Amino acid sequence: MRKPIIAGNWKMNKTISEAEQLIDEIKNQKLNESVEAVLCVPYLSLAKAKEMTKYTNINIGAQNMHWEESGAFTGEVSPTMLNEVQVDYVIIGHSERRQYFNETDETVNKKVLSAIYHGLAPIICVGETLEQREENIHTSLVAEQIKAAFSNVSNEDATKTVVAYEPIWAIGTGKTASSEQAEEMCALIRNTIKALYGKETAESIRIQYGGSVKPGNVSELMSMENIDGALVGGASLKSSDFVKLINY
Ligand code: PGA
Repeated sequence: MRKPIIAGNWKMNKTISEAEQLIDEIKNQKLNESVEAVLCVPYLSLAKAKEMTKYTNINIGAQNMHWEESGAFTGEVSPTMLNEVQVDYVIIGHSERRQYFNETDETVNKKVLSAIYHGLAPIICVGETLEQREENIHTSLVAEQIKAAFSNVSNEDATKTVVAYEPIWAIGTGKTASSEQAEEMCALIRNTIKALYGKETAESIRIQYGGSVKPGNVSELMSMENIDGALVGGASLKSSDFVKLINY
């Protein structure tokens, strides 16, 4: 049985004091303990978030990292820096990083390998644009993104990852993929992982859907066989919505 994992991706939202307030609101409500809750907050709020969630079941994630431990990479944050604040997860290869910050399948793979090496669980994001779906190349594209992301990752290490399928056309647009479309792609991802690592590993990895997940559509998405969680942007910024997602 895979434990459901609902992760909030705050993106570039919330100052430290705003983050403090939102975390306070979330942690003071009753959260379903059989669902893993993760908050992926901006770097500046990571230490505070970790401290505030110490005696809770909430885990904390970063939204990106560099693959090197240190060096002349102005403006970047390293895995060892994330280790010191005891971050649990790190989102890797979000479509906004691929689109606006030139991340490629190759840099995604370097980051995945580095995250695992440093004991950080990567949430690996894949997904197609609307044009790619219309051209009907979305399945091969996502399968290639998966193969590239897992390049040189051992079988044992693969089990430490979470994958998020996020169709770019559904992110922040209010346009959710239908649960059938989401399930079809999550099943494809699981099959691709199965071809790489075998059935046991493929069955153990949690696959999230992301793209306009809201309290009103979460339970239908979560009822699908291959969808084990959600990566949530907009609806993770309001405590009442996020709590509803955890308690779907
Ligand atoms: P959204 O974002 O929920 O606002 O569509 C999802 C994401 O980008 O992870």
